Amino acid sequence: MKFFIDTANLKEIQEAQDLGVLDGVTTNPSLMAKEGISGKNNVLKHYKAICEIVDGDVSAEVIATDFEGMIREGEELAELDDKIVVKIPMIKDGVKALRYFSEKGIKTNCTLIFSAGQALLAAKAGASYVSPFIGRLDDISFDGIELIEQIRTIYDNYGFDTEILAASVRHPIHIIKCAEIGADVMTGPLSAITALLKHPLTDIGLEKFLSDHAKTNA
Ligand code: E4P
Repeated sequence: MKFFIDTANLKEIQEAQDLGVLDGVTTNPSLMAKEGISGKNNVLKHYKAICEIVDGDVSAEVIATDFEGMIREGEELAELDDKIVVKIPMIKDGVKALRYFSEKGIKTNCTLIFSAGQALLAAKAGASYVSPFIGRLDDISFDGIELIEQIRTIYDNYGFDTEILAASVRHPIHIIKCAEIGADVMTGPLSAITALLKHPLTDIGLEKFLSDHAKTNA
């Protein structure tokens, strides 16, 4: 399973890259706003900076919601760097834009996926990735993980190449469940990735190893 980090924070992206387990980055307009990035030139510059750090796909979201606007913005984003994946919302014109970019060989990530039907439509339109938001489904008492299972079954039934990018991951259990099901990618905060490191028996065991070593090597 590929690990993407879901942030526009350059320090966190660098930290995940330095850990040696990072396969890509996802951003969205809210994450860009959180970093105080505004204005077209600054936004494009920031995407460039992300691409310089990470060795993998970088999702950059269009703001337009009409077909022509999405194409214009998406083409401009795609020209920035080969790593850019154009992120398109799951709306009617978005489906048309997915088909357009797929025919042009430009990678896409269909975002704001909350149902298996939406994921099926995105795959049929040629999306490279679909992003089901599991955390936001959990937030409203729907089982986000169950949606990943449904999409995995559907894609496997028909051999769709679209990769399932489990998004809105909030904690390590989400990551483990997604890996068990066979999600292709997960994207989450750095805290969810580093939480995978933690086990109290690891800490206790290491402390004991080091103290035993110190006793005989004093
Ligand atoms: C996906 O690409 C989105 O950026 C993201 O995962 C949404 O996560 P959130 O629900 O934690 O905002």
